[in-house]
Amino acid sequence: MMSKDFKVLIHEKEIGKRVHELGAQISEHYKKKGAECLYIIGVLKGSFIFLSDLVRSLSIPCEIDFLEASSYGASTVSSGEVKLVRDIRFSIKDRDVLIVEDILDTGHTMEYLLKHLSAQKPKSLSICSFLDKPSRRKTAVKADFLGFTIDDHFVIGYGLDFNNRYREVRSVVIYEPN
Ligand code: PRP
Repeated sequence: MMSKDFKVLIHEKEIGKRVHELGAQISEHYKKKGAECLYIIGVLKGSFIFLSDLVRSLSIPCEIDFLEASSYGASTVSSGEVKLVRDIRFSIKDRDVLIVEDILDTGHTMEYLLKHLSAQKPKSLSICSFLDKPSRRKTAVKADFLGFTIDDHFVIGYGLDFNNRYREVRSVVIYEPN
């Protein structure tokens, strides 16, 4: 798929190394807290590849659920309006919950999810994001665990899409259509 429209920003080898480090960091954090089992909530669809690598880098037990939020529609610009397309299926009351996202952009999605999930009284609620674009933030949301900070490029790959395509690309790639 490589053409002049695409430029690798984060190579798959670098991603693998960082995700492994994140898994170790998260495991150590929750072990220190005395958490027995982590409740992971993946935000579909973008997080599915990051989540599948991350959970296999953990050295503490976890349960996994998903929800689906949508904010972009068929555009490269966030609309700011978040829709919960699919909710989690089981109770998170008194659980140590980690939300797993592919990217924090404006932060509208995460702000919405924090409000939605904290209402269910988890024991703890933290955020792990693969990517962060702090220059685009419109909210006070911050990741507790973060893969990479990037500049304001439209990126695809490793779960991230353009019009639902390119999620399977192994590296994070800057998408600049002519
Ligand atoms: C993307 C991404 C985050 C959100 C971040 O989701 O996966 O959930 O946007 O943007 P924000 O910080 O500006 O809210 P998208 O709506 O594109 O859905 P997808 O994960 O199914 O691709």
